[in-house]
Amino acid sequence: MRFLISLALLLCLSYDALAVPAPSRPQRKGRSFKVDRIRRRVAHGPSALRKAYAKYGIVPTHFGLDLLDFEPIDPHQSSSTAVDDVAQPAETGAVSASAVQGGAEFVSPVTIGGQKVVMDFDTGSSDMWVISTNSPAAAQQGHTVFDPAKSTTFKTLDGATFNITYGDQSFANGIVGMDTVDIGGATVTNQAIGLPTQLSQTFIEDTASNGLVGLAFSNINTVRPQQQKTFFDNVAASLDEPVMTASLKADGTGVYEFGTIDQTKFQGNMVNVSVDPTNGFWQFQSAEFAVGNGALQQITTAPTAIADTGTTLMLSSPEVVMAYYSQVQGAVLANGVGGFIYPCNTQLPDLSVAVGGETLATIPGSLLTFSQVGVNTTTGQPVCFGGLQSNQGSSLQIYGDVFLKSMFVVFDKRGPSLGFASPA
Ligand SMILES: *[C@@H]1O[C@H](CO)[C@@H](O)[C@H](O)[C@H]1NC(C)=O
Ligand SMILES: *[C@@H]1O[C@H](CO)[C@@H](O)[C@H](O)[C@H]1NC(C)=O
Ligand SMILES: *[C@@H]1O[C@H](CO)[C@@H](O)[C@H](O)[C@H]1NC(C)=O
Repeated sequence: MRFLISLALLLCLSYDALAVPAPSRPQRKGRSFKVDRIRRRVAHGPSALRKAYAKYGIVPTHFGLDLLDFEPIDPHQSSSTAVDDVAQPAETGAVSASAVQGGAEFVSPVTIGGQKVVMDFDTGSSDMWVISTNSPAAAQQGHTVFDPAKSTTFKTLDGATFNITYGDQSFANGIVGMDTVDIGGATVTNQAIGLPTQLSQTFIEDTASNGLVGLAFSNINTVRPQQQKTFFDNVAASLDEPVMTASLKADGTGVYEFGTIDQTKFQGNMVNVSVDPTNGFWQFQSAEFAVGNGALQQITTAPTAIADTGTTLMLSSPEVVMAYYSQVQGAVLANGVGGFIYPCNTQLPDLSVAVGGETLATIPGSLLTFSQVGVNTTTGQPVCFGGLQSNQGSSLQIYGDVFLKSMFVVFDKRGPSLGFASPA
């Protein structure tokens, strides 16, 4: 799989007259840290889509078909609860964890007050919280639970609370403490951590992750009365460069690295795109697209996008999604699964979207199938769920893992900005 990704990548078809020059950066030695990302084994498209809609409060309006000849796979039956232990070699901060059934997020190990817990890295939110001994008993079940009493460095942040709502059903709230957080060797001694006393069912059931590490901008952190900084903001000053890179692979593994841009992880030019942090997100201009070798078209509904590691799919403006699936043989919008599906043997076209004003990033068609979602009962053929789905006309496009996996991405506090390049 890995080789295929590198070969299939077609990033940076510049549609400006000039290609973006390669940044010249001195090779520096110093503080940088990496943490491997561990995949969860079973990914279920419709659940991933529902989760994304919930996170951003998107209300889906389906005008799809009720298909009589389509039998969806029941995610609770089909996906085994087998634990998939993937130990990854790492140069700094050795890492291993488990992947379990359920949604489709990627998780990585984090050490809080000396206790190792597997958490979801989320560049789409700015609160760090972990299921703890303060959480309801039902929420502790099946989770690795952080115990503040067993940490010699934990301090309660008196009077502080956090309350994060990702959408109608998805939330966590409770008290806040400070502790030492170590992510792959990058350490913050006074990191604010939410200890939820209330959690939505989605987080309780999601035993593959024990909390979130919010890596968006601190202006949307929900701790009150005194807003707190994200791990990334706290660690930035001690890093060689104030960057976090995401090198995510199509096979579900990957690496997050803090403090350095590893020149061996990408090839060709890196595009530096300016970020508007006003809304708290890694938000950038993305106002054009093309399907396959087709003409460039405008994105008018939401010409901006956010880079969100905490979202599985790529959620684009409706005009992008309609234009794309009009080029996919046998594609239908299915009510039963809430998104576009098509026969798995269909060859998908590439999709190019603008990153900033000068560059198109191309996601190869081979990376745009998300998962098998059922079978066609007429033909017996497997039916697949698309990795590209609609943002239902909301004001942001959410470029999640399906998009991010096709490139090497730098989350850069300078600017702030995002760097995009073709993976090595
Ligand atoms: C959290 O915020 C929501 C509104 O976003 C509010 O309805 C809820 O009561 C708050 N919960 C707590 C425990 O403060
Ligand atoms: C199932 O196959 C039939 C016959 O090829 C086709 O008309 C129908 O659209 C397919 N349904 C789905 C959900 O792909
Ligand atoms: C990207 O641009 C910003 C602002 O223009 C600059 O500070 C930063 O160093 C650049 N990043 C890279 C990786 O070149």
